[in-house]
Amino acid sequence: MAVRAPIGVFDSGVGGLSVLRAIRQALPHEDLHYIADSAFVPYGGRSEAEILERSRLMTRFLVERGVKAIVIACNTATAAAAIRLREEFALPIVAMEPALKPAVAATRSGVVGVLATPGTLGSRRFASLVERYGRSATVITQPCVGWVELVESGELEGPVTDAALERYLRPLLESRADTLILGCTHYPFLRPAMERLLQGEVGIIDTGPAVARQLYRVLAEQGLLRGDGEGREYFWTSGDATKVQPVVDVLWPRRVPVQSASARAATEDFQ
Ligand code: DGL
Repeated sequence: MAVRAPIGVFDSGVGGLSVLRAIRQALPHEDLHYIADSAFVPYGGRSEAEILERSRLMTRFLVERGVKAIVIACNTATAAAAIRLREEFALPIVAMEPALKPAVAATRSGVVGVLATPGTLGSRRFASLVERYGRSATVITQPCVGWVELVESGELEGPVTDAALERYLRPLLESRADTLILGCTHYPFLRPAMERLLQGEVGIIDTGPAVARQLYRVLAEQGLLRGDGEGREYFWTSGDATKVQPVVDVLWPRRVPVQSASARAATEDFQ
């Protein structure tokens, strides 16, 4: 595989851009292809079989772009599809899950809150994570219905967002949670609003930087790390690019045109 080949990153929607920004920071020379499965967002309430099928299509699309590695920038897709994708595709696949281990190490009150989608929290993968790392703390899980939609519509601030955040954060605070895990890649975009509401009362853990470090390690081990040139970004969506563009413009620091993946890929792949 060529060192100069790009890296492929996917999520159900724009949330994975929170991981992409950590990847861009850690790997400034790499070209990055990012696809948002906007036609099927949110994944959170879908069946495992459906998420696996969508994840397969996203991966295939990126492989067709000639990528040297894939990042599943989605906790829900990791839970439903990471094992199968690794069996089916012969390239490095970096996946992600809620950062329970560091949260349990950090908590002083002994209570950790995990904010994630129902798909992630209900998965076997998450149950085994709690089994492995959650024994020495009380782990409270909180599905945050509606938060993904807020980020997908670029509503990162304001009274509607504050009310949606309060609804799930308040009970966690009342349960004495002092460490919160952002177990969905959309949620880091709500972090500034969350921090205002929490007023420094709790620590917040985002897995994006750890995923970027893991990607760096995997590429370095395989001799695939690119050492020169300014990396570029290419953004794709399975949905309507004209609707996704304005949100991407809010979430990403530079203007990158969002291209329609369905125009490029076999139509049946994306409908
Ligand atoms: N951003 C995704 C995650 O990390 C999925 C959100 C969704 O589509 O429900 O879980």
